[in-house]
Amino acid sequence: MNDLYLLEQQMENRLDSYRMAHTRSVRDECLRLAALFGLSARDTALLAEAALLHDSTKALQIAEQATMAQILGIELTRDDLDSPATLHAITGAAMARVDFEAPVAVTAAIACHTTGKENMTLLDKLLFLADYIEPTRKFEDCVQVRRYFYEVASDLPLEKRLDATLLLSFDITIKGLFEECRPIHPQTIKSRNFLLKNS
Ligand SMILES: [Fe+2]
Ligand SMILES: [Fe+2]
Repeated sequence: MNDLYLLEQQMENRLDSYRMAHTRSVRDECLRLAALFGLSARDTALLAEAALLHDSTKALQIAEQATMAQILGIELTRDDLDSPATLHAITGAAMARVDFEAPVAVTAAIACHTTGKENMTLLDKLLFLADYIEPTRKFEDCVQVRRYFYEVASDLPLEKRLDATLLLSFDITIKGLFEECRPIHPQTIKSRNFLLKNS
């Protein structure tokens, strides 16, 4: 596990100020959620590590990310390339593993922070949610999901509240992509269907 203070400094050197502000805000949202869900000190630290590393490759061009994946022997699917906004989750997880020797729980959460996946762990879900609702996010979708989690659904039991919020976020993402006539990554659909059937 990385030292969180040092890791923050390293990310500061790699990211522009806009992305660093978002990264810090995701880390802070993760800490709030960790307290709300009563995570252990170790899981809280893992979640904070994942937050600091989650967008480490987002500024890279798609071609650069494809090359990086090729060098690391990661096979990108046609669906990955058709939804380029999701690529940085795959390459970010690889960078966390290769450059920072991050633990599996960290790389796994980073790998699914854009599309989700079936049977997500609590850490996966909390990173996903924090990335969506951290307070610097002003998009209408983000405001709606944040409001749902902290206000509309606040009476639900915690796990139900988390799953219902993720389900809402998947539905909003899918609807938005559909209306804009853009490809929907099949993993997003699978994540949505899994939650619908299992929560
Ligand atoms: Fe991201
Ligand atoms: Fe992000």
